[in-house]
Amino acid sequence: VSTPASRVHPDHPGFHDPGYQAQREAIAQLALAYRGGPIPHVDYGEQDHGVWRLVCEHLAPLHAKFACRAFREASASMALDPTRIPQLEQVNARLRAATGFSMQPVAEVASGQTFLQRLGDREFPSTRFIRHADAPLITPEPDIVHELIGHACLLTNPDIARVSQLLGRAAQRADADGVQALSRVYWFSLEFGAVEEDGEVKAVGAGLLSSPELEHFRHDSWYLPWDLPHMASTPYRPNKWEDRVFVAPSFARFVADLEAWVAQWTD
Ligand SMILES: [Fe+2]
Repeated sequence: VSTPASRVHPDHPGFHDPGYQAQREAIAQLALAYRGGPIPHVDYGEQDHGVWRLVCEHLAPLHAKFACRAFREASASMALDPTRIPQLEQVNARLRAATGFSMQPVAEVASGQTFLQRLGDREFPSTRFIRHADAPLITPEPDIVHELIGHACLLTNPDIARVSQLLGRAAQRADADGVQALSRVYWFSLEFGAVEEDGEVKAVGAGLLSSPELEHFRHDSWYLPWDLPHMASTPYRPNKWEDRVFVAPSFARFVADLEAWVAQWTD
């Protein structure tokens, strides 16, 4: 199975697991064959549900401590089943009703430009595979845990949904340099951004909120002042835990400053 066409990187814990490789391929094929309409179910195994359950249990107390209010409310309203991996159709019923966004299956992690542009149409390109059971608390790539617990929950918040769409609309109009700036700002806000709330730093970004590494967020993060032009000119490493965290003075400023910054493309 370790063919050159493998969807799993040689460093991935699932690389030497033929069953895992086959499942990843089957899930990717479902996405490739998808042409709209009801999203086909993925048949997850009991081991997969076990990984989901373990991550949910690990994250719940971390969210109580470290997540911003908007996320805690969004997550409560989404009420993902902590015992079984939810199917995208179920998630989309709630997400569409809340903000008109939907999770759309993709075979591979979308490139920065494609990813952002689809947000402009209130579609979130979502992977559906789950991390390997040998390393349930670490994932080198965005899996279904990241997409649902992080992004889908956040996107039920109308402010997050609006800002995501605006970043996407901007990416539909921007040149290559603009797309790079937008990707960086997306990374340092909606993936790894934070806000001050009740005198404490709280996580807003999906990358922080979906990762068990969130427990290190307050003592190991390198806080930087909220500064959109600085974020837009700071390169990042995808697939790596981000220890540089730009902290907005409030959730309202987080939203308002992002809206003002993208207006250079959307006005
Ligand atoms: Fe993400």
